[in-house]
Amino acid sequence: MHYAKELTALTVKINLEEKFMKNKIILAGILVIILVSGCTQLEPVKNNGAADNQNRTKDNSDNGSAPKTFSLSEIAKHNNADDCWLVLSGKVFDVTEFIPSHPGGTAILEGCGKDATELFENRSMGSGTPHSDNARTLRENYFIGNLQ
Ligand code: HEM
Repeated sequence: MHYAKELTALTVKINLEEKFMKNKIILAGILVIILVSGCTQLEPVKNNGAADNQNRTKDNSDNGSAPKTFSLSEIAKHNNADDCWLVLSGKVFDVTEFIPSHPGGTAILEGCGKDATELFENRSMGSGTPHSDNARTLRENYFIGNLQ
């Protein structure tokens, strides 16, 4: 009888310990799931416009294939604020996205759909001086190809 009691107590203890162990394993499992799902849901931080533009430049120049060429008649179709291509020194730029942030305001619209080299260099509607080096660097973000 005495042994039987001890045996039951022992069995209960083991059972309890097993339960705790199971709980611990379940908890650990849940933690792992939370951690893993948390990590996989972490999206890379969205990049700003500049990076997008870099990609666009890449598409046309850095991917091993020759840059596209466009005729003046094709460029002439993109002649408004919602779709503005222009030619500067033989290179074609899609500046549509840049228009709202152009420091010279809507003056840039005068160049849409045409060879705007003269306008870019003279700024006859503005200071009458050429654009800065900064402006020349900036425009490369919008390069889409060469003039045919
Ligand atoms: C990719 C094309 C262009 C870029 C990246 C650009 C960039 C800039 C920048 C950065 C400025 C500030 C001043 C400077 O740094 O020189 C500026 C000013 C100005 N831009 Fe542009 N621009 C572009 C095209 C044009 C075009 C085609 C025109 C005219 C048709 C124009 C007319 C002006 C005017 C009038 C100003 C005001 C300052 C002044 O009169 O000197 N821009 N632009």
